[in-house]
Amino acid sequence: MATEVRAGSDGEQQLMLIYKKTTIPKLPMIILVSLLFFLFLLSQFHIHRRTTAHSTAADLRIRHGYTSYDSHIERQLNKTLNPKLRKIWTTRDWDRKVSVFSAFFDSLKRRSLLSNHSKALSIGARVGQEVAALKLVGVEDSVGIDLVPRPPLVVEGDFHAQPFDDETFDFEFSNVFDHALYPWKFVGEIQRTLKSGGVCVLHVALSRRTDKYSANDLYSVRPLVELFNRSDLVEVNKVDGFGLDTEVVFRKKIK
Ligand SMILES: C[S@@+](CC[C@H](N)C(=O)[O-])C[C@H]1O[C@@H](n2cnc3c(N)ncnc32)[C@H](O)[C@@H]1O
Repeated sequence: MATEVRAGSDGEQQLMLIYKKTTIPKLPMIILVSLLFFLFLLSQFHIHRRTTAHSTAADLRIRHGYTSYDSHIERQLNKTLNPKLRKIWTTRDWDRKVSVFSAFFDSLKRRSLLSNHSKALSIGARVGQEVAALKLVGVEDSVGIDLVPRPPLVVEGDFHAQPFDDETFDFEFSNVFDHALYPWKFVGEIQRTLKSGGVCVLHVALSRRTDKYSANDLYSVRPLVELFNRSDLVEVNKVDGFGLDTEVVFRKKIK
């Protein structure tokens, strides 16, 4: 591109000056446009990262108010060990809850997410209604864990540090994700103890707040998808499960 300035009339010289000022050589122009495009892409990437990080943090909130892990556990035990409540859970409540859980597990069997040959774990099973339901629908090799054991259906175990070896179960169910003070440990333990290709089903509340014993609040499925980083999201379904409204199904990736 020419930038030569020749002597001439005033008008000619002004024209040449404008021409000189506005003309940018081809190669620097390409570099400039590429640089601007690169800066644009970079800004989009930062905006995307900011919004993703923001919504994940905003969609899973840990409740404050527990001064220590022990105080959190003590609060859970207060309710789970209550003798009057345990009486109700094991009598009046029993059949109704077993029948609702059985319907959920039957439905999972029809969708080939659970089978009679599955080795199954129910996390936070309290007195064991969900384990009784698993056995009732034919999943004989089933057990529950809770802070308070109730043999033979429920053994003692903290879901932040499950008392099982790696890759033990084909199927894990829980409706107590909201009780996890450390959700990443809760999910990490599920992914550790599930076999490759194993299925995890969580019942969670997205559209209403859970009870005063909950330790976190979940507002979308997105944080679960991020926490289940060694699994694929398989299904998200609406359910009506004792105040919990959403069923989320993950399958652990095959190595
Ligand atoms: C809302 S109850 C749910 C009981 C049962 N899944 C049901 O639907 O009937 C929550 C249960 O989680 C148990 N839990 C709380 N924190 C736990 C922990 N860290 N490890 C194991 N179980 C825990 C409690 O003891 C309680 O039995």
